[in-house]
Amino acid sequence: TRVEYLNYDAVADHGWEIDDPDLFEAASSADLDHADYGVFLAEPGETLLEAAEHRGFAWPFACRGGACANCAVAVVEGELDSTVDNVLTDDLVERGFRLSCIGRPVSETLRVIYNVKHLPGLDDLRL
Ligand code: FES
Repeated sequence: TRVEYLNYDAVADHGWEIDDPDLFEAASSADLDHADYGVFLAEPGETLLEAAEHRGFAWPFACRGGACANCAVAVVEGELDSTVDNVLTDDLVERGFRLSCIGRPVSETLRVIYNVKHLPGLDDLRL
């Protein structure tokens, strides 16, 4: 899976909105640090968090078991399967939020905003 990622901090710093359809285009032309924006390939079987870590990135996490939401990402394009998610409300799942510690990429391409744990609605989920 080709994973295009963007740090929510960069979104907030630039005053962008996570539901802006041109967000990733704006990010790719904004000369962001490689840690904040870029592309990596996830291998089959890796969770999204593992895939990021195996490629040298330090994305937020705590429990690694689907119980806290520190690792939450917003999926803008593509699919992450996370069948054992006990933390995110149906409303958040509906809006594309997933847990990267248990979510495995299942689409050919994926666009995700990581580090979204401070977004309203997510910050009060943390244990
Ligand atoms: Fe706790 Fe993913 S690290 S839910």
